[in-house]
Amino acid sequence: MPHLFDPLTVGPVTLPNRIAVAPMCQYSAEDGSAADWHAQHLMGLALSRAGLVMVEATAVEEIGRISHGCLGLYSDANEAALERVVGMARRVAAPGTAFGIQLAHSGRKGSAERPWEGGRALAGDARPWQTAAPSAIPFAPDWHTPQALDAAGLARVTTAFRQAAGRAVRIGFEAIEVHIAHGYLLHEFMSALSNTRTDAYGGALENRMRFPLEVARAVRGAVPRTIILGARITGSDWVDGGITPDETVQCAAALKAEGFDYACVTSGGLIPSARIPVGPNYQVPFAARVKAETGITTRAVGMIVEPAQAEAIVSSGRADFVALARAFLDDPHWTWHAAERLGARIAYPPQYARVAPAAWPGAAMVRPGLARA
Ligand SMILES: Cc1cc2nc3c(=O)[nH]c(=O)nc-3n(C[C@H](O)[C@H](O)[C@H](O)COP(=O)(O)O)c2cc1C
Repeated sequence: MPHLFDPLTVGPVTLPNRIAVAPMCQYSAEDGSAADWHAQHLMGLALSRAGLVMVEATAVEEIGRISHGCLGLYSDANEAALERVVGMARRVAAPGTAFGIQLAHSGRKGSAERPWEGGRALAGDARPWQTAAPSAIPFAPDWHTPQALDAAGLARVTTAFRQAAGRAVRIGFEAIEVHIAHGYLLHEFMSALSNTRTDAYGGALENRMRFPLEVARAVRGAVPRTIILGARITGSDWVDGGITPDETVQCAAALKAEGFDYACVTSGGLIPSARIPVGPNYQVPFAARVKAETGITTRAVGMIVEPAQAEAIVSSGRADFVALARAFLDDPHWTWHAAERLGARIAYPPQYARVAPAAWPGAAMVRPGLARA
């Protein structure tokens, strides 16, 4: 039997399998509040049979959004809107599906256009805002120069993470994830390329990790031990002088010591000119090191597309579970098809059971992809 469909206990929760839908910004919120698009997106993924469905990067304060369309959890209206769409998704979800949320702050990459508008820094007539970062270094020459956070700013952001975590707990998520990757605020503190501070928050790795760990501690304090708590961390900046896999391992170990239940190991996003060797499994070696050297439950992500590829990652022990992003946009029923390819039996929603080959022998005829496999 494939290992991909084995249950996995992550902290206090047992997930029904080793497959997660990675967090994916939809840039479709209104003033930070989830909209009908989120309802359809999450309701579709609720049927996916992924053991864990992650809600996109969700800003803990208004200036922590990437774009005007980003989801937030900084107001009562945001909380009510997200509760509505997550409730809708839950009511149709496959039994055992866990829902998670990623809490984030965009840092110097905020105040940007939606990707389909160009993804550039917002122009003067597009309601730009003052961004915040560890140091006043823009993401790229044509980007906003962020304000270096002072002591009051650091305290404000920590409080915002704690309060957003409290809202996520009230909504009822089974998993909460802190975003420390992809060049956003907490990653900016971690990397010497974006953090040139000379105070206790800059310099040696111990200092660069200080603020992300303060945030981690604040979130840990707001999240009961009955809920999974994890983080997305950076395996490499792919640039000399940036985060290295050694530093990643130390970061994961520190998070484990703070009581975090898992680490999802990704990379890049800090420096636009980084040359990243994108290809199948390109980030898996980072996850494998984190798992081997810290023992924290580890999720691999990035260019994991084929069911046999995902199965090999999990069965070889390089990661405990995998997250897929674009593959689920392309095929929200990826898990169903992976089960068929790998010979695992999973229950289909009864309304859709006539496409299940095990239940309906003629089903393969409407599944050319399966016939090819
Ligand atoms: C549309 C889209 C939105 C994304 N939004 C987020 C996000 O909110 N948070 C995050 O950590 N990563 C985000 N990512 C990155 C994915 O989670 C994932 O790490 C990346 O796409 C690589 O996985 P893949 O090869 O399976 O797509 C996004 C990716 C896509 C395609």
